[in-house]
Amino acid sequence: KNKNIQAKLVLLGDMGTGKTSLVLRFVKGQFLDFQESTIGAAFFTQVLSLNEARIKFDIWDTAGQERYHSLAPMYYRGAAAAVVVYDVTSSDTFERAKKWVREVQRQGNQNLIMFLVANKVDLEEKRQVGNEEGELYAKENGLTFLETSAKTAHNVNELFYEIAKRLVKA
Ligand code: GTP
Repeated sequence: KNKNIQAKLVLLGDMGTGKTSLVLRFVKGQFLDFQESTIGAAFFTQVLSLNEARIKFDIWDTAGQERYHSLAPMYYRGAAAAVVVYDVTSSDTFERAKKWVREVQRQGNQNLIMFLVANKVDLEEKRQVGNEEGELYAKENGLTFLETSAKTAHNVNELFYEIAKRLVKA
């Protein structure tokens, strides 16, 4: 009944989209206005308890800078879930997210659960990518879509809870 699940989770997405910030918000409840760019990758763990199960996340927060792209397969291979992040204030990062989705669908684990996350929704006045745009792309590609803000914490816990729930069902 009370299952213990250990799951490898990877975050992918362009530099500066807020991958580290989302993880730090979830793991430590903190946010830094000047979060440093990740070098290579960073590792975090966090446990979530649902009614039915206890999920231990092994989280790989990858570096978005292009020079680290070749390292990414080490992190998404064997992952149970992938979170592809873009920044709603930058169309370029949405295009980059689509490339990550295609790459992981081709090279990742067959039954991997993929979430598409539109981060920085607190910056509404600078928005370049509409909610419907992200939602439609996610729907067409079989991804779960969420809009988040690591800054205000909007939908951040929800994101990890949704992933946990999906892992329990899988
Ligand atoms: P790389 O490590 O370079 O791949 O970047 P990253 O995707 O991990 O982004 P990071 O978390 O380092 O955030 C980049 C910048 O965006 C930082 O200055 C953060 O403070 C800021 N940031 C992250 N999330 C949000 C958000 O939800 N809202 C706002 N306003 N700023 C954010």
